[in-house]
Amino acid sequence: MAKGKTVFFCKECGFESTKWTGQCPGCKEWDTFSEEPVLKKSNKPAGNKSVSEPELLSNIKAETESRLSSGIEEFDRVLGGGIVKGSLVLVGGDPGIGKSTLLLQVCREIVNKSKKVLYISGEESLSQIKMRAERLGVFHGELLLLCETDLNLIEEIIEKHNPDIVVIDSIQTMFKEEVSSAPGSVGQVREVTAALMKIAKGSNITIFIIGHVTKEGVVAGPRVLEHMVDTVLYFEGDNYASYRILRAVKNRFGSTNEIGVFEMQGSGLAEVKNPSEFMLKGRPEGEPGSVVAASIEGTRPILVEIQALICKTNFNMPRRTAAGTDYNRVNLLMAVLEKRAGIQLADCDAYVNIAGGMRITEPALDLAVTTAILSSFKNAALDNKTVLFGEVGLTGEIRAVNMAEQRVSEAAKMGFEVCILPLANKEQIKTLGIKLIGVKNIQEVMSLLNRSSR
Ligand code: TYD
Ligand code: MG
Repeated sequence: MAKGKTVFFCKECGFESTKWTGQCPGCKEWDTFSEEPVLKKSNKPAGNKSVSEPELLSNIKAETESRLSSGIEEFDRVLGGGIVKGSLVLVGGDPGIGKSTLLLQVCREIVNKSKKVLYISGEESLSQIKMRAERLGVFHGELLLLCETDLNLIEEIIEKHNPDIVVIDSIQTMFKEEVSSAPGSVGQVREVTAALMKIAKGSNITIFIIGHVTKEGVVAGPRVLEHMVDTVLYFEGDNYASYRILRAVKNRFGSTNEIGVFEMQGSGLAEVKNPSEFMLKGRPEGEPGSVVAASIEGTRPILVEIQALICKTNFNMPRRTAAGTDYNRVNLLMAVLEKRAGIQLADCDAYVNIAGGMRITEPALDLAVTTAILSSFKNAALDNKTVLFGEVGLTGEIRAVNMAEQRVSEAAKMGFEVCILPLANKEQIKTLGIKLIGVKNIQEVMSLLNRSSR
C-alpha cells in the first residue's frame, strides 16, 4: 500500500506541522505531537468570490438571540439565560461525572415542551440509555434516540428529522470516513466538530457535544474543540462528594462566571438551589480550626467551611497541604502570620482544607484561611455564628474585596450573626440584622480570636 501523506498535530492546541517536533511552536508544550494522515481537500474551483465590504457598526442591526429555557434553572444560568438557537455547546468533564445524565435530563425537559430532540450516542446501546432514562423519571414528549458513530450518516438523519436540539455523546467516538485516523484523534475531532458546526449554523439547530477529559486533560484535545465551539461548559466534582458544579469557561452568549450546582442522587441530578446550606451541612460547631468564609463563585455568594489543622511536626521539613485552595497562597499566608503576627509556624505541620470538596482560589478567602490557621494554632474557636471574608496583604493588612454586600447578605440570610470583614468594606454595607466587625490588619483578627476564646 502506498504510504499516504501525513502531518503532525499538537494535541494541546491543534498546531499543524509537516515535521515532528519535541516542543510545539504554538503552545510550547512538550511531546504533544501526533502523526495523522492528511485529509484530502476537494478541489472545488474557487468560483467568483464576492468581495465583502466593511460595514459601519452603527448600521448593523443586532439580532437578539432567541433562547429556549431548558427547564433546569441551574443549567440555564450557566448558559447565560437559556439555550441559544443554533449554538454549538461543548460539555466536558471526567468520565463518570454525569455528563450523559445531565444532558439526558435536559433532553427530557425539552421534549416535555414538545420540542424535537435527537440524542445520538456512540457509547451506549439503546437499551442502556432506556435504563438510564427510566431512572430519571417520566418522559412526556418524544425523544429520538440513535446509536451511531458515522458522522456522514448522522448528517443525513439530522437533515431528515430536522430536530431542534441534537446531543452528541461523545465526540471521541464519532468519525468521518474521509479522515483515515482513528476516532478520538485530533484530526477526527477537528473534522467532526467542523461538520457539526456547519449543521448548527446552517440549519439553526442547537448541538450539544459531550467530550471526555482524561487525567491529563487531553484525549484528542478538547482544547482544539474549545476554540471551535460557541460555549464550553465543564462539569466537575469531587469523586467522593455527591455534588457537581457546572461551570462555563467560554461563552459567546453570556458571562463565564456563572456556576450551576447539582447533586447526584439515585434518580439523576438534582438542582442545589441553596449551595451555602449544602456546603455547611454537618459542620462542627465551636471547634478550633473551623471557620466559615463568605465566598463568591461567579456572581453567586456561597458560604464554605474552611478547616485548618496545625500540629508539631515529626519531620525535619514540616508538611503542608492545601485541599481545595491554592497551596502557594496558604504558604504565603503562613509566612505573613509568622512575620506580622509573630507566631511560630516553622516547626508545625499545616493542613488546610475546604470542606465538602469545593475548589476556591479567590483572594477573599485569605482572611478565613488565616483565621482558621490561627484558631487551630491557638486552640481557640471562633464563635460559630461568625463568618469572614477579606484579602490579606503581605504586610498583614486586610484589604477590601469585591461584592461585599452580597457576601454579607448571604451570611445574614443563612442565620449568621457576626461578620468579620475588611474595614474598608464596612462602610458600604447596608444589610441589617448582622453585626459587622471591620478589621484593618492581622493583629486585630488575633485579638478578636483571643477575646472569643475566653
Ligand atoms: P454518566 O452520566 O454516565 O457519566 P458520564 O457520561 O460523564 O461518563 O454518570 C455516571 C455516574 O452517575 C455513574 O457512576 C452512576 C451515577 N448515577 C447516579 O448516581 N444516579 C443516577 O440516577 C444516574 C443516571 C447515574
Ligand atoms: Mg457518558
